[in-house]
Amino acid sequence: MSCQIKEVDLNRLPPADDILSEREYAFYQTLRFPKRRVEWLGGRFALKELVRGVTKAVWQEIELLPGVTGKPFLWVKGKSSPLAFSLTHSRGWAAAAVSEDTPFLGIDLEKIEHRIDAWAKDFFHPSELTGTGDAFLTALWTQKEAVVKLLGTGLSLNSYDVRCINGTPSFFGAALEVYTQMGTPAITLQTSELIPGFMFTAACGQ
Ligand SMILES: CC(C)(COP(=O)(O)OP(=O)(O)OC[C@H]1O[C@@H](n2cnc3c(N)ncnc32)[C@H](O)[C@@H]1OP(=O)(O)O)[C@@H](O)C(=O)NCCC(=O)NCCS
Repeated sequence: MSCQIKEVDLNRLPPADDILSEREYAFYQTLRFPKRRVEWLGGRFALKELVRGVTKAVWQEIELLPGVTGKPFLWVKGKSSPLAFSLTHSRGWAAAAVSEDTPFLGIDLEKIEHRIDAWAKDFFHPSELTGTGDAFLTALWTQKEAVVKLLGTGLSLNSYDVRCINGTPSFFGAALEVYTQMGTPAITLQTSELIPGFMFTAACGQ
């Protein structure tokens, strides 16, 4: 199982109309907040650079359009693409991943920061809290978010329904139903400090 990852600095993006297709540009113009606009653009730039390498299509032939749940859909030269992909953004950075040999993929990037204890208690099941400290909790957060993106649900689920214990995910409730419908793929989590000060997880399912 392998995936390609690309991170981009949001201060170094090409102009939106160079990167985006007409349909993407029309959506981009509906985004009101400058921070959201630049993150949306940066994720697409990172992904298009990866997809360009795989398909030889040019930026504007690669379209990533949002679906109703927030999970975007990838089109290359007007056709729905079978490539597995995922996007994330955090604090001035965006990253994307694609895979040709992994059917399910989710990634997440988060800045390592101190967060209050109540946040960890709310978000993580006690069985997940096998360590302490800001780097550990941020890594755990990226694992859970990468897995909910792989499932395609995002955080519409109860966060206790996906539990990442020592780098292995397990599923309960509504998450177990989705995971079962997907055919119970074996999921590998790879967590690293992709950018200094940021934790990153790629969840690959096969
Ligand atoms: C999906 C979710 C895990 C994103 O996490 P986050 O840390 O806030 O944001 P990240 O920057 O890491 O990831 C955002 C990207 O995840 C992707 N994403 C969003 N929903 C997704 C889903 N259901 N499945 C897979 N990927 C999803 C998108 O590519 C999004 O980037 P984009 O909007 O620029 O295209 C989580 O925030 C969530 O579930 N949000 C709710 C989405 C929602 O309520 N949508 C309402 C529909 S309008």
